[in-house]
Amino acid sequence: MARYVLVTGTDTGVGKTVVTAGLGHLLTKQGLRTLAVKPVESGCDGVAKEDGTWLQESTGQPEPQRALTRLRAPVAPPVAADREGVDLDPENWLGFLRRAGGENDVVLIEGAGGALSPITWSLTALDLAKDLGASVLVVAPNRLGMQNHVLLTHEALQQRNLRMLGIILVDPEAPDASTPSNADALRRFADLKPILLCPRVQHPHDLRETLEPVVSWILKS
Ligand SMILES: Nc1ncnc2c1ncn2[C@@H]1O[C@H](COP(=O)(O)OP(=O)(O)O)[C@@H](O)[C@H]1O
Ligand SMILES: [Mg+2]
Repeated sequence: MARYVLVTGTDTGVGKTVVTAGLGHLLTKQGLRTLAVKPVESGCDGVAKEDGTWLQESTGQPEPQRALTRLRAPVAPPVAADREGVDLDPENWLGFLRRAGGENDVVLIEGAGGALSPITWSLTALDLAKDLGASVLVVAPNRLGMQNHVLLTHEALQQRNLRMLGIILVDPEAPDASTPSNADALRRFADLKPILLCPRVQHPHDLRETLEPVVSWILKS
């Protein structure tokens, strides 16, 4: 049975796709049968490269090529689904992910938005994680305000008895005065660890060395 890992973030646009794709690539290179799946993606406008495509390319998986459910409007999935007359079917996502678990060593799941962002009108990505027994990787930007967001996310995981694998702090385009001290501050205030610092890269594949420790976090989970 596969290990399931939910990659969530403290917000949208924080680096979940880059980290998931980097990890998908690394795990596959290491010979682990890995599937990287985006259950639902909004903002699929036919112009920007979709998260689901990044994930597929990272592992080379034949399926899925894209998110399991794709919506056009760049808003929360249930809002987009209502606008577009689409029925969101979490049982379909869970069925797919369960079958994937039987055929892979690791199944990476990229959430939409942050930990408590609705993916249907009654579910968040944390509910999927709970159903699948997934561990959770938290991606956050290494900038001012991050501590509050990471602590809120951690508390949401604790409340649901979800295991946090670790925190990935992604370098912002422009570091601020808090960037050099954020990781230590999180460790000191809340003993949150492990924390990994993630540099800015041209392509997710360039994160191979950086994400190496995450492989052991996953394999030990
Ligand atoms: N480590 C990184 N290095 C360079 N650019 C990054 C990095 N992480 C995120 N980005 C950029 O920031 C934007 C948001 O990242 P993305 O992974 O799509 O976030 P999310 O999946 O959380 O919405 C993208 O343009 C992405 O290329
Ligand atoms: Mg994304």
